[in-house]
Amino acid sequence: MNEQEYNIAGLSRQEFPMLQDAACRDRNGRPFHYLDSAASALTPESVLRAMDGYYRQYRCNVHRGMYDESARATEEYETSRIKVAGLLNAAPEEIVFTRGATESLNMVAYKLAARLGPGDEVVISIMEHHANLVTWQQFAKQYGFKVRFIGLRDDFTLDMDEARRLIGPQTKVVSVMHVSNALGTVLPLGELHDLARQHGATVIVDAAQSVGHRPIDVQTMDCDFLAFSGHKMYGPTGIGVLYGKHERLDALDPFLYGGDMILEVTEEDSKWNGPPHKFEAGTPNIAGAIGLGAAVDFVTAVGVENIERHERALARRALSRLADVPGLKIYGPTNDELDRGGVVSFNVEGIHPHDMADILGGEGVCTRGGHHCAMPLMRRLGLPGTTRASFGLYNGEKDIEALQSAILKAIKTLKA
Ligand SMILES: Cc1ncc(COP(=O)(O)O)c(C=O)c1O
Repeated sequence: MNEQEYNIAGLSRQEFPMLQDAACRDRNGRPFHYLDSAASALTPESVLRAMDGYYRQYRCNVHRGMYDESARATEEYETSRIKVAGLLNAAPEEIVFTRGATESLNMVAYKLAARLGPGDEVVISIMEHHANLVTWQQFAKQYGFKVRFIGLRDDFTLDMDEARRLIGPQTKVVSVMHVSNALGTVLPLGELHDLARQHGATVIVDAAQSVGHRPIDVQTMDCDFLAFSGHKMYGPTGIGVLYGKHERLDALDPFLYGGDMILEVTEEDSKWNGPPHKFEAGTPNIAGAIGLGAAVDFVTAVGVENIERHERALARRALSRLADVPGLKIYGPTNDELDRGGVVSFNVEGIHPHDMADILGGEGVCTRGGHHCAMPLMRRLGLPGTTRASFGLYNGEKDIEALQSAILKAIKTLKA
């Protein structure tokens, strides 16, 4: 891998304002190596331009106005929905705009959990982000059903033997992530969904770390619901998506009540619009949705397969470089045969992950240290947390070199 590989599919790092300075320095003059894309991926110019265009040229509300600018806002907003649908191989009316993966996961759990009770079970994995895990845990307390956790094998893959033991006729929902934000593990959704279907369970996928990073087809994935955030796929913050099969969305009651989701209201009762509008009460995040549409155009132009290949190659490269660092242990799949995401989690013996991330930050290497919103996972692994480097399509060999030398420096400083 060389400097050339900073560019994939003809893409230049110059597309990203935060990477535009030729010397690539942060505001304190430090080198800027952004290895925190799993927390939030940087935004390209095209996304900024799309949102700026909305605010400058047609910043009006959607679905209401009888004048050109409002009609344009509606058209662009709905076009974004069509673009997202295209990215997932879904129908536009199956795409609900939300604030992000967290809201999407809460929204669907809020509605499904109310139908469950004692004797019912929801199966999740021990790797789940709190957005999925805490949600089901809290509704379980409220409604009296049980949450079961599928554990990990020694190689940080999902324990499918345990999944087969746990998923049965009592399982009403299987809700797991596609790619782990903490370990980089890719979950075997095909096998899991087959098991879930055998028992008639509803299937939910937390695709926060996979949409825009690898091809997703909700038809072949065979899920009922899927959640993701715009900001993790080069889009804006504050916008996300809940995909739901049309008949499943149609059968759910609204989550919030208000404007835009209504067909008819009398003093006594109300009738709802169909999906997706039934789930988009109030003025939505119009600029965010338009920005998300531009992000879909962006990842599609680069090629989602190219992005996947690039991120995986970077993860492999990082794993091989970090293998040379004394006392460093990787938490996540290291076997080349295993599929994995662009996340590399590690600890160095005797060094707290916060201290490591702090020193790396001082060297201009942006990583994250902590539990990555996966405290039960960290507890099972017996760890206070890990330091996590995560890759985006703008990263390359130089960032990995910088990561390795900053880790060596941290070891020298903290173990001196
Ligand atoms: C796997 C996973 N699920 C859900 C979320 C929540 O996403 P958001 O904070 O954008 O709602 C994240 C964010 O880190 C994540 O990595």
